[in-house]
This record gives sequence, C-alpha cells and structure tokens, in this order.
Amino acid sequence: MEESRKVTIVEVGPRDGLQNEKAKISTRDKLALIRMLSEAGFSRIEATAFVSPKWVPQMADHDAVMRGAQRRPGLLLSALVPNEKGAVAAIAAGAQELAVFASASETFAEKNTNCTIAESIARFRPVLALAGQHGLPVRGYVSCAVDCPYEGAVAPEAVRDVCERLLEIGCSEVAVADTIGRATPARTDRMLSTVMKSVVAERLACHFHDTSGMALANIDIALAGGIRVFDSAAGGLGGCPYAPGAAGNLASGRLVRHLSDRGFVHGVNSEALERAEQFAARLRLAARD
Ligand code: HMG
Ligand code: MG
Repeated sequence: MEESRKVTIVEVGPRDGLQNEKAKISTRDKLALIRMLSEAGFSRIEATAFVSPKWVPQMADHDAVMRGAQRRPGLLLSALVPNEKGAVAAIAAGAQELAVFASASETFAEKNTNCTIAESIARFRPVLALAGQHGLPVRGYVSCAVDCPYEGAVAPEAVRDVCERLLEIGCSEVAVADTIGRATPARTDRMLSTVMKSVVAERLACHFHDTSGMALANIDIALAGGIRVFDSAAGGLGGCPYAPGAAGNLASGRLVRHLSDRGFVHGVNSEALERAEQFAARLRLAARD
C-alpha cells in the first residue's frame, strides 16, 4: 500500500468527549467505551486526563480509568496531562503516551490552565523529561489554532510559534486544534500553510471540533497538505468546559466514512465503531436525563 494513503485516527472520545459532560459518568461505563473503541481497531485512544479534579470533575477517576483500560498490542493508550504532577500519576497508572496542552491564545491559556503560554511551556519541560526516562512519546496540543472563544481570530504566526516551542522541548507530534469549531477551509489553509513553513506534515496532527459542520472540509485541506493524523470522538461527543461554544468533536464514524470514501486506509472497523458510537450516545443521554 502506498504510504501516503495510511491515516491514523486518534480517538479522543473518552477524554475530550466525556470531559464536558456535567453529570457523572461511571468509571465502568468509561472502561466499556474504551474497550469498544479498542475492539473497533483504533491504534491510539486518549483514555483520560490527569488534570485537577477541581477543574474537571468528570476526569477525577483518571487513575481507575487508566489502570482498568483494556490493553492490546498495537494500541497506545494516552493521557492528557497539564504538568509534572499529572505526568507522574499518568505514568504510574500505565499511560503509554502523554499529551500536554498549550494554547495559541493567552486568554484561553489563562482560563484553561491558569497560566501564560510561556508558563505552560515551562511546566511541560519536566513532563518531557519524565516521559523521556520512560521512553514514552508526548503529543503537544495547540488550542485555539484558528479562533479563541475570548479573543476571536488567532494569528497563524502565533500558532506556528507555539508549535515550534512544543517541538523544541521534545514533543514528537503537535496537534493543532480548532477548539471551538469555527475554522473554515480557507482559514484552515492559511493556518496550516503558515505552520508548515517550519513544521513538516509528518509531525502534525489536526483536531477539529465540528461546531459549524466544517470539520470534514477542513480535514480535506489537511490531507491535501500531507497531514495524516486526525482526532475524532465516538458519536461526536465533546467540548471543553473552559471554551464556551465548543460543541462536539468531529464524530469518528463521519471521519471514518469520509476517509474510506477517499481511499484512505485507517484500520477501523465500521460496524464495531457503530456499536461504540451507539454506546457513547446512550452515555450522553443518560448523563443528561
Ligand atoms: P491551579 O489551580 O493553578 O494549580 O490549576 P495549582 O498548581 O495551584 O494546584 C491547585 C490544586 O490542584 C492543588 O490541589 C494541586 O495539587 C492540584 P489542592 O492543594 O488545592 O488540593 N493539582 C492537580 N491535581 C490533579 N492532577 C494534576 C494537578 N495539578 C495540580 N495534574 C491546572 C492549574 C493546570 C492544574 C488546572 O488549571 C487544570 O487542571 N486545568 C485543566 C483544564 C482542562 O483539563 N481543560 C480541558 C482539557 S484541554 C482541551 O479540552 C483542549 C483540547 O481538547 C484541544 C482543543 O480542542 O483545543 C486538548
Ligand atoms: Mg478538543
């Protein structure tokens, strides 16, 4: 198979999908969702977030989720971490990959992590050092890569700057994120073209929220630019509690169908994914009853 037709989907539903649900979802249900996603063939699943339970109560059971998540060869279970404390706990619980999260907007950095962009990068250095000691890869997110819920349009140069800093400190991949789903293909193109002046496509991933229904059109722009790693969440679950207006992530089923139609190979079984998506929808309904 031609290498450029291979695409990796990072299933972020158990973390980015569920973190925004107000009502408590049981650890057992979270583990069932992860098991179904694993059975659907995803090779990377972001299982939980080792963030402060005061900031995101839904992720308070991170330890039990990471310890209890079903593992299989070929699957990397990752954990979102904001600092060294989170990294220590995530690694102890068996995380196989870490993800740190920065922002291209100062206001969002403050609202989401109570620090400046520069302070967030400084906090990540010990995370990278620790991950290095354990041989774990670290993804770096850049939130508000197109728009910020507080500041509006974000300059593509600001996104490139944060991407460069995340790679400098040792991240193996940078995920540019349209946190509130306002990107259009033209704006995605401008942002990615600017970022790719200094970052090669092989180090980039795209994380689109589908608030405006444009996520798939934006994926096409990224594919044309050579990017082959994309995030999605089962059933389009999702949003960030500190990003008002952020609706669901791009739904995994929509992404899988879109990629299949275009002849890309992703390794996800559609029927098994549909079962996981139905389960995710029931979880959301139950949480909102
Ligand atoms: P802070 O209050 O400034 O932190 O929060 P602190 O260092 O002053 O500590 C305060 C308390 O938090 C202390 O506990 C610490 O021990 C504890 P206390 O003494 O009060 O009992 N604490 C922790 N507990 C557990 N795990 C930790 C941890 N660190 C400190 N890792 C902090 C700063 C970064 C911790 C906080 O702001 C936070 O946890 N923020 C997370 C917010 C979040 O998870 N947002 C959603 C994820 S990002 C996202 O969704 C975007 C993304 O999907 C991409 C996109 O779409 O844009 C990735
Ligand atoms: Mg997100």
